Amino acid sequence: MPALTNKKILLGISGGIAAYKSAILARRLIDEGASVKVVMTSGAQAFIQPLTFQALTGNPVHTDLLDPAAEAAMGHIELARWADCILIAPATANTLARIAHGMSDDLLSTLCLATDAPLYVAPAMNRLMWNNPATTANCQTLAARGVQFFGPGTGFQACGETGSGRMLEPEEIRDALIHALNAPTNDALAGKRILITAGPTREAIDPVRYLSNHSSGKMGFAIADAAASMGATVTLVAGPVSLQASADVKRIDVTSADDMLSAVMGEVSDNDVFISVAAVADYRLEQVMDQKIKKSADTMQLSLVRNPDILKSVSSLPNRPFCLGFAAETENVEVHARGKLKNKHLDMIAANNVGQKDSPVFGSDTNALDVYWPEDGHSSIESGSKQDVAKALLELLTKRLKND
Ligand code: C5P
Repeated sequence: MPALTNKKILLGISGGIAAYKSAILARRLIDEGASVKVVMTSGAQAFIQPLTFQALTGNPVHTDLLDPAAEAAMGHIELARWADCILIAPATANTLARIAHGMSDDLLSTLCLATDAPLYVAPAMNRLMWNNPATTANCQTLAARGVQFFGPGTGFQACGETGSGRMLEPEEIRDALIHALNAPTNDALAGKRILITAGPTREAIDPVRYLSNHSSGKMGFAIADAAASMGATVTLVAGPVSLQASADVKRIDVTSADDMLSAVMGEVSDNDVFISVAAVADYRLEQVMDQKIKKSADTMQLSLVRNPDILKSVSSLPNRPFCLGFAAETENVEVHARGKLKNKHLDMIAANNVGQKDSPVFGSDTNALDVYWPEDGHSSIESGSKQDVAKALLELLTKRLKND
């Protein structure tokens, strides 16, 4: 049976150039068995005609809050009641701001206010607009109310710039929606408190420069979201990444390895499980310069000192939680992963092979893991979206917790 059979989806389209991709999105949702009704803002209609969506969905397109004819056919409250979910793609900075502030002076924002159906948004905007603190605050408000974000992605933008803010491709949005609507509702981790680290750390060189790595944080965020949806109480200590965690995850943002260690040590005592996904920088500057370093000499040497091992600090605590570590390996995956399992006194370790040219792990939306524990045996989690891999890993964790 197609994944969206009998689902009634209200597709909101706001005014961005990515609106042309919404026609393909409508098609993909219908291919999966969904009934789709489209609502367009006036900005969206500057980019693409309502007639396109009427032809694709077989339903009249709704554009106006105060149109007596449209209201007589299906009033806005009725339309809001009809929807199993609202998906806004593209969601512009303006639309996100308007919904965050509870505006109701056009049809789309009114529908968002007049429904208790889940709301999903696929943001699309210029990278500076996406990174603007006003947009960040609006997104945090929405996330705290349970709005789920699909993307945005990173890459070339219609404005000619490159960065974060691209709308995900229609197929990615369809898959994310299918995933969200089928999110695990099991409560296998109910009553468990789980502390997770994610993302890179950033080690300052001077006020404008730092050392870091390519970790995107996607795996750790996927684990945090999946653990919360399985009933756990989740605290996520996140390095600098531009990702949203689901509303029921308590998030603490940090920058350096030292900050991450302090945040973890401040939280850990209440937790049953510690999952260390962060790619913690191995070294930091021996001395961070107060002023920007000037380029005078042809060569330059930085003196580095080892960062604390956060995972080992937790696994060495007297009343330690169950410790699950990660290992990114380029060769001899099992040997190195088992070495870390032993050396860091872990209960479980998830290894990914980052040495395969055609399957980069950092920044990618997919992953595959080999999972080991102190006794013999291991389990392979085959390649899939980081959300699916997170779920499979937590199912394994649940089994190991029962053995404990
Ligand atoms: O970098 P390494 O391969 O040692 O990482 C293995 C595990 O240890 C990972 O789970 C990582 O999050 C954790 N780690 C840490 N603190 C460090 C280095 C690694 O918590 N300084």
